[in-house]
Amino acid sequence: MHGHTIFLFIDFYLSKEDWFIPNMKYLIGIDLGTSGTKTVLFDERGGSVASATVEYPLYQPRNGWAEQDPADWWNACVSSLRQVLESSGVNPGDIAGIGFSGQMHGLVLLDEDGEVLRNSIIWCDGRTSAECAEITEAIGARRLIEISANPALTGFTAGKILWVRKNEPEIYARARHILLPKDYLRYKLTGVFATEVSDASGMNLLDVPRRRWSAEILEKLAIDPALLPSMHESYEVTGYITDEMAALTGLKAGTPVVGGAGDNAAAAIGTGIVESGKAFITIGTSGVIFAHSDNVTIDPKGRVHTFCSAVPGAWTVMSCTLAAGGSLQWFKNNFCEPESEKAAETGQDVYVLLDKMAMEVPAGSNRLLFLPYLMGERSPVLQPEARGVFFGLSGMHKKADLIRAVMEGVVYSQKDCLDVLREMRVPFKEISATGGGGKSPLWRRMMADAFGCPIAVADKAEGPALGAAILAGVGTGVYNSVPEACAELIHVKQRQEPDLANGEIYGRYYNLYKRVYAQLAGQFETLSLL
Ligand code: XUL
Repeated sequence: MHGHTIFLFIDFYLSKEDWFIPNMKYLIGIDLGTSGTKTVLFDERGGSVASATVEYPLYQPRNGWAEQDPADWWNACVSSLRQVLESSGVNPGDIAGIGFSGQMHGLVLLDEDGEVLRNSIIWCDGRTSAECAEITEAIGARRLIEISANPALTGFTAGKILWVRKNEPEIYARARHILLPKDYLRYKLTGVFATEVSDASGMNLLDVPRRRWSAEILEKLAIDPALLPSMHESYEVTGYITDEMAALTGLKAGTPVVGGAGDNAAAAIGTGIVESGKAFITIGTSGVIFAHSDNVTIDPKGRVHTFCSAVPGAWTVMSCTLAAGGSLQWFKNNFCEPESEKAAETGQDVYVLLDKMAMEVPAGSNRLLFLPYLMGERSPVLQPEARGVFFGLSGMHKKADLIRAVMEGVVYSQKDCLDVLREMRVPFKEISATGGGGKSPLWRRMMADAFGCPIAVADKAEGPALGAAILAGVGTGVYNSVPEACAELIHVKQRQEPDLANGEIYGRYYNLYKRVYAQLAGQFETLSLL
């Protein structure tokens, strides 16, 4: 009777979302990003119960190179898992499943004992121009696009494999397993070598229309198929937490681990972009515009990528610029020590302070342009040698002008990609914003104005981690399907409508941005040879 009274009390005072659900199931999403790994424990209604992020460094041993240590990813995974389990107090036996979201394309090489052979060469590394030319030569440009839906790109994994084979033959000779970043975490937690279609799409080795490894590409590139992990759909269970890993992390042995997805495919699910006509933009380290597609739509010029979706039977078209949030992070790290100190003292996010400074500057940043090509570029401009530029610096410019110019430059680079999707007639009416940059009201306003379309924000903010958890829920029977789960859990909570007057200003600067790049393209090549 007493229990009944308490139930009524809850029923009366709490909203529908907060109702007590007996036997509530929980799901974990592990998002292996470039700046850190974030683990989030969700309840089955998509509510975030506990979250922990552990950061790690990015190594740039040479201009244009980018590497990370898989040991850092693994330590971050274990420590964030432990933190969420301890802080939530949730019984590990109530966790129905675990899913991953992972930075795409990185090459992890393991020896026969499963030990890492070298640092991972990651997605924004641009060292493999020569290897990409070899791949195109070996397979034929048209045939490669037919099979892998993309041209050979320096960011993608096949070029990195060929680079190690050529430049570090003694390491390649000892390699027995080729894995993508998140699939290394899966191997550590479950002992299984497996991947799934969305992440594998970014390797230049997958038959993207058929969703399986391409025997033809592997043969022509002389890559032994035995090196590659087994292929799954993103929601499928690929293995179970081992006894040893249960003891290490606090998880229950036997907890199912599903395929998961590349970070953008996972973010799409966590933002509800799972049917035709929907698109999202993310400003994380990279900048991505991503649209769902019910069929394989390819840009023959290779300016945007076509990948398998984490939704079975669907594909995606997406652009990826290499230094979006990464450009602002670079500026903050190098030039904003006082702001960072102030943020630490006052317990604020330093990016909120930078946003406020940039808001004081008018659209156009007082005639200052920034080209965000700090890591070279991949979409829609295909030039690993491109580099960042401030154009129009004047003695009157202050730090706030530079911050705003960086933010605007990132928006122009995204518009450049959006124009390709529009040219391909990929349908969308509005774009949902996610990622760190999606939290900035100023960046959202700039995007709405410059793109001339509404920018929406979902009521769930965990993007990739939530997407990974939803996949775990589908694979373990908590939800019936990905679209059904998204329709139930994720809704638009806010929309930023475009301002036409600002749109006109940004339009003029955008045209100049395009011309400045076109004129500098040849000079970037010269610079790379100095
Ligand atoms: C996608 C891409 C990046 C990485 C890191 O093609 O390279 O979005 O996945 O976030």
